Amino acid sequence: MVLWAGRFQKELNANVNAFNSSLSFDARLYKHDIMGSLAHANMLYHQGIIDEISYQEIKQGLNDILNDINTHRLVFDETAEDIHMFIESELTKRYPNNGKKLHTARSRNDQVALDLRLYARDEIQDIKNMLKDLIHTLCYQSSNHLYTYMCGYTHLQRAQPITFAHHLIAYAQMFYRDITRLGDCYKRMNVSPLGSGALATTTYPIDRYFVAQQLNMDDITYNSLDGVSDRDYAIELCHALAIIMMHLSRLSEEVILWSSWEYKYIELDDAYATGSSIMPQKKNPDIAELVRGKSARVISDVSTLLTMMKGLPLAYNKDMQEDKEALFDAIDTVKLCLPVFNDMLKTMKVNVEQMRTFAAKGFINATDCADYLTKKGLAFRDAYYITGKLVSYCIESNYVLETLPLEIYQSFHELFQEDIYHAVSLETCVNNRNVVGGPAPETVKKSIEMMKNQLGEKCV
Ligand code: ARG
Repeated sequence: MVLWAGRFQKELNANVNAFNSSLSFDARLYKHDIMGSLAHANMLYHQGIIDEISYQEIKQGLNDILNDINTHRLVFDETAEDIHMFIESELTKRYPNNGKKLHTARSRNDQVALDLRLYARDEIQDIKNMLKDLIHTLCYQSSNHLYTYMCGYTHLQRAQPITFAHHLIAYAQMFYRDITRLGDCYKRMNVSPLGSGALATTTYPIDRYFVAQQLNMDDITYNSLDGVSDRDYAIELCHALAIIMMHLSRLSEEVILWSSWEYKYIELDDAYATGSSIMPQKKNPDIAELVRGKSARVISDVSTLLTMMKGLPLAYNKDMQEDKEALFDAIDTVKLCLPVFNDMLKTMKVNVEQMRTFAAKGFINATDCADYLTKKGLAFRDAYYITGKLVSYCIESNYVLETLPLEIYQSFHELFQEDIYHAVSLETCVNNRNVVGGPAPETVKKSIEMMKNQLGEKCV
C-alpha cells in the first residue's frame, strides 16, 4: 500500500510509477539518507517528541538496514518511489509501530535537500584527494625536467623558450585552484536544511542546530522555502567540476599533440595507450582523447542544472529530482578521469632531446636578441626592428640566430659583439627569466616548493 493510500482511491499506474521513481539513481544516497535519519531521530528523542523505546528501535532498524544494504542482504525494491521511501518502508516493515514515527516533523523535501548535501560533501573530499595526487605527479615530472628546454607558444606559434617543468607547473596551479574552488563550495554546502519541512517548517519543538551539529555541519539554512528549494550547492559543485574537466581537457589536447609523430615530445607508456585494429604502426592517446571528450558532458551537466532550476517557483518542485543524474554524472566522470589521467602522466616518457632540438630552431630567442641590443643602449623599438630584419635574413639564408656569423650580425648593427651567442643561447634565455612565476629552473624549483607547502604535504 502506498504511503498516501488514505487520500487516493486508486493505485498508481505502473508506467507512471516507473516514470516517477528516482530509486534507480538515488539509491546511491542510502548511507547519507540513513545518516540524516539517525540524526533526525536522535533530535526527536532529545526534544521529547518521541520516546526512548521508539528512538532505540528506529536507531537499531536504520543501522541494520545500512548493514544489510552494505552486505547485499537487502536489495532495492524497484517499486519504491525513491530511496527515502524505500528506507522508511523497510524500517516500518521491521518495526511496524515505531518505524512510522521517524518521519515526524520532516518532509522528503528537506530530507532530500539534506541527503544531497551530505553526499556531495563526501564526494568533494574524494575529488580533492584525487587532485592532490595529480598535482604530486605534476610536481614529480616537473622536478625531473627543470632543465628540459622547450618551445613556449602563443597562438600555437613558436614564441619564447621555457622549460617542460614550467609548462607542467602551470597545470599544477590550475588544479590547485580547483582544490580551493571545491573548498569554497564545501563551505556553502555544509549547512543543514533539515527542519524546513515541506516548505514552512513544523509546529513540533525541533532543534535544528542539534541535527546540524550531529552531522558535523557548520550551520543551518535560515529560510525554510529556500532550505528545501536551493540547489545552488549542486550547481556550484557541478561548475567546479566542469572547470576541472576543462583543465584536464586542455592538458589532454597538449598530450595528444606532444605524443604525435610530428612533435614526439613525449611517449605514453604502452599500458596507457592503444593500438589500431588495422594500422600496425599506431599508438593512440585514447585516454587523453576520452578525457577531452568527456569534458563535454560535465560542461553540459552544469547547463542541465541551471536550466532545470531557472523557471521554478518557490518552493520544492518535482523538476528538482532531475538534479541528481546531472550531478552524479559530473561527479562520476571527474572521478573516472582523474586517476587514469594521473597514471598516464606519471608513466609518460619525455623526449628531452627532441624538445631541445625544436626549441633551438625557429627564432624563439628573437626577443632576447632585441633585448641584447636594448641593454647595449638602443631603444627597444629600434632593436625590435633590426632583429626583425635579422630574422628575415636568416630565414632566407637558412641560418638561425645561434649560427649566424658575427660579421653578418655586425652588418645589421655595430653593437653586436661575440657575446651575442651567449645572449641568444637557450640556457641564457630561460635562466635569465627568473622573475617570480618565470621559467628559470631556480624559479620553477621555488614554485614546486611553494606548491608542496600549499598542499601541506610532501611532494614525491
Ligand atoms: N525523489 C525526490 C527528489 O529527488 C524526493 C523529494 C520528493 N518530494 C515530494 N514532495 N514528492 O527530489
